[in-house]
Amino acid sequence: MGHIQISGLNKEFVNRRKTRREEDLAPFGQTVPVLEDINIEIEDGEMVCFLGPSGCGKSTLMRIVAGFDHQTSGSVIIDGKAITGPSSDNIFVFQHSGLLPWMTVWQNVELGLRKIENQDEKCEKIQEYIEMVELDGFEEHYPHQLSGGMLRRAEIARALVVNPDILIMDEPFSGLDFLTHMKLREEVVNMHQYLGKTILIVTHDIDDALVMGDRIIVFSRRPSQIKLNRKLDFSHPRNFFKKDTELAKLRDELFFMLGVNYAV
Ligand SMILES: Nc1ncnc2c1ncn2[C@@H]1O[C@H](COP(=O)(O)OP(=O)(O)OP(=O)(O)O)[C@@H](O)[C@H]1O
Ligand SMILES: [Mg+2]
Repeated sequence: MGHIQISGLNKEFVNRRKTRREEDLAPFGQTVPVLEDINIEIEDGEMVCFLGPSGCGKSTLMRIVAGFDHQTSGSVIIDGKAITGPSSDNIFVFQHSGLLPWMTVWQNVELGLRKIENQDEKCEKIQEYIEMVELDGFEEHYPHQLSGGMLRRAEIARALVVNPDILIMDEPFSGLDFLTHMKLREEVVNMHQYLGKTILIVTHDIDDALVMGDRIIVFSRRPSQIKLNRKLDFSHPRNFFKKDTELAKLRDELFFMLGVNYAV
């Protein structure tokens, strides 16, 4: 279960800072419209990638879907129920630096399984997810003893072990080196095919969206509206470097939409 229906959603922020700073979007007390009439339906098991200019409200929308923030108007219905607050049962928000530094990889992954009382079952699950992200052998390592890519893998194991219906990942590959980024995104695609969770991914990388998404949603500048909501019916693995394919054309179109005329 992981069907999401976002209808007529609007979000405004009120500026509460009395001394105005350069970056403030409006004077004290005035509202700033961020999201405007957002309508999106996400199927159970879909991987949806969100693209859009910085500050357009992608993270805000993710926070609203996760129940950490509330829309000004409109609704978010998950599996038939309107969300009213955070739910640890069906939604997990993937965060980097989400690991507790004083706990080992094993203990961090174990945190998501507090509800399982049977110790054997618990150990088996922890091992399964640690192996899934290829961290076997590093169970007793602390976060500071892992590389950037391994840390991100441990964070993914920690997210998936909870077995959420919906996984929200806000820029999950930021700060990683190029090859680790490529490898990890390939692994997320494989995991998605294997586990079939609904996954919402915010990214600034058009290629991430093209390689991973079952659907791509592009936001305009603030106040943001949906500029493109497109299903990607291409099989995996995807190659957009073969020129004149539909995927390569869509890549050029997306770069253009986001302000780059000559995509390389
Ligand atoms: N709690 C808040 N109070 C006031 N304004 C806020 C608050 N949170 C976000 N905003 C404003 O809403 C807008 C959208 O922010 P958000 O973080 O959702 O953007 P984003 O699309 O995730 O950007 P980025 O790509 O840079 O991460 C920004 O202009 C931001 O300043
Ligand atoms: Mg953001």
